[in-house]
Amino acid sequence: MRDKLSDRVLKLKGSATLGINSKVKELKRKGIDVINLSVGEPDFDTPIPIKEEAISGIREGFTKYTEPEGTFELREVICEKLLRENSLSYTPEQIVVSNGAKHSIFNTLLATLNPGDEVIIPAPYWVSYPAMVKIAGGKPVFCKWNDEFKIDIDHLKSLINKRTKLIILNSPCNPTGIVYTRKELEEIAEIIVENNILCISDEIYEKIVYDVEHVSIASIDEEVKRRTILVNGVSKAFAMTGWRIGYIAADIEISKAVKKIQSHTTSCPSSVSQKAAISAIKWYSDISKIMVEKFKRRRDYIIRNISEKIPYLQPQGTFYIFLNIGNSDSEKVAKKLLEEKHVAVVPGKDFGAEGFLRVSFATDIENIKEGIKRINEFAEENL
Ligand SMILES: Cc1ncc(COP(=O)(O)O)c(C=O)c1O
Repeated sequence: MRDKLSDRVLKLKGSATLGINSKVKELKRKGIDVINLSVGEPDFDTPIPIKEEAISGIREGFTKYTEPEGTFELREVICEKLLRENSLSYTPEQIVVSNGAKHSIFNTLLATLNPGDEVIIPAPYWVSYPAMVKIAGGKPVFCKWNDEFKIDIDHLKSLINKRTKLIILNSPCNPTGIVYTRKELEEIAEIIVENNILCISDEIYEKIVYDVEHVSIASIDEEVKRRTILVNGVSKAFAMTGWRIGYIAADIEISKAVKKIQSHTTSCPSSVSQKAAISAIKWYSDISKIMVEKFKRRRDYIIRNISEKIPYLQPQGTFYIFLNIGNSDSEKVAKKLLEEKHVAVVPGKDFGAEGFLRVSFATDIENIKEGIKRINEFAEENL
């Protein structure tokens, strides 16, 4: 049946993290004590009052299709949030709610890319960006990083040409944990405006920051805001990954286009999840602070205890730390680490950064202590 598959799918590589997860499950089935540091979601449960809101929604019969772009009430609540927390003014017509931020990004790419349009993806990048660009018919073009894992501005400038349609910015960044400052964003914004390109600003880790401020590039000025498709959602901030609610805030023409695509593909995001999202964004916007405190303690533990043989850049956001393993092949190292020490991490290669490993601290401190002990032993023996 392979000959029946589309060229589109044949060009794609399966998700690396899913591959690691199945290997972890296989080892666990054999009774092996695996420490899983590859996880990409908070290990906390969705707060009870948010769950209760969804349960009431079900009881009240809020179980039918909603507007394709999400209910007016949810879009209004999102506008209030963007104004309150990001000083950004949008109308509900500019908001489209989808089934997770990943879906929001994919819809946006479908709505904006023509075949062969180039999309600049700063490396190290989230694994799904290049795949989604390719499915949507675009061409991913990778931008180099500087000493701080941030965009190499000269390289960025050199990549822009007539086919450049978009850049995807991700701050706080998965996998490096870097967070752009306002000043850095101003420089990037100037390039975006000067060259009249669009910017997808993936802000899904907005609330998971340590002693730094999250700034949305859309808040720099009106010119860059017009060209920015701001992406956010409830997955990481409220430990709601399974509820699948993400959204865009964008220029009205773009949000109308995204709405059109969504109306023909998924009809609307889940009604019950929308109920829960209203309550999360409206009433519990600060609940993530409790999680963030815990993440910070775990991050600090890793920083204090990781072997001197493994350099890293201190993450200012997210729940990942990106470890430098020198010139080693990250896939081979990750495989060996899993087989010999039973610690699962994600190879940097999948994020466009060979020679690194992504370690997640979205797991409890006891796991982290044991995981770091084993990584240090591994470093002594292998690095
Ligand atoms: C950078 C980044 N963007 C978007 C997403 C997707 O978020 P959601 O679960 O809301 O689709 C993730 C999830 O891992 C992510 O790491």
